Amino acid sequence: MSNQVALITGGATGIGKATALKLVSQGISVVISGRRQEVGVAAVAEIAAAAQNGAQVRFVQNDVSDEAAVKTMIDGIVAEFGRLDMAVNNAGVFNEYCALDQSGTQNFRDMLDINVVGLYFCMKYEIAQMRKQGQGAIVNLASIAGLNGIPWGGTYAATKHAVVGLTKSSALDHAAEGIRINGVAPGAIRTDIIADQLNNNLAELQAMHPMQRVGNPQEIANAIAWLLSAESSFVTGHILNVDGGFQAK
Ligand SMILES: NC(=O)c1ccc[n+]([C@@H]2O[C@H](COP(=O)([O-])OP(=O)(O)OC[C@H]3O[C@@H](n4cnc5c(N)ncnc54)[C@H](O)[C@@H]3O)[C@@H](O)[C@H]2O)c1
Repeated sequence: MSNQVALITGGATGIGKATALKLVSQGISVVISGRRQEVGVAAVAEIAAAAQNGAQVRFVQNDVSDEAAVKTMIDGIVAEFGRLDMAVNNAGVFNEYCALDQSGTQNFRDMLDINVVGLYFCMKYEIAQMRKQGQGAIVNLASIAGLNGIPWGGTYAATKHAVVGLTKSSALDHAAEGIRINGVAPGAIRTDIIADQLNNNLAELQAMHPMQRVGNPQEIANAIAWLLSAESSFVTGHILNVDGGFQAK
């Protein structure tokens, strides 16, 4: 996998950072994006320390909901590295945890803008570059909330169901062009995005999973790395459950 380059949106924390650490340990260069410069710079130092075989690490300050900025970011990666082999569309928010009638319209619009439209912008320009190369692999972050209803999270679940639809449909569009597009559907994972729920409802979150625990970011990173690798060369349009058995119930 050496000399390959991967983009990971929202890659300075949580699942994205764990994925960056995994990929650079395999000698793959990574570009992580995110909105907060200082968080990104700190993550680059940590990820660079794990790099093998000359893998490079870059941070690009970027908001995925800004289409022009996403295009500029991907053009910049191609200008520096000459290609884009892999992309992990991971940036996401879960900004409201309540019943639908209590939810705020602007919160829902904000989540749609980032989790769905932002992911769409990324896919659009990633795929355009990968078609030029005749090769590429994309992994989108769905969720158990992209495959099921979840209590108190209907608006978030709506955005993740949309991610599943974009993943499967675009996988069909580009299956014959050497581009594989898959998703992962994590259960509850110990990261910032569900910090309040981990603090307030940990026992409930653990009991939700047949394994009676929440997952850790590395367990999702392992699945993403496999879907990006040639080991999964005949897999496309698949949503891989990494959820401690949640989906088997
Ligand atoms: N943690 C879980 O339980 C869980 C479960 C299922 C799916 N997911 C999904 O995994 C992905 C990663 O989340 P995480 O768990 O690592 O949490 P996280 O909060 O650590 O990571 C999300 C990252 O996205 C970034 N981000 C948010 N909005 C952005 C924007 N507009 N532009 C660029 N970056 C932006 C955040 O700053 C953060 O770095 C998300 O898509 C999330 O929905 C998480």
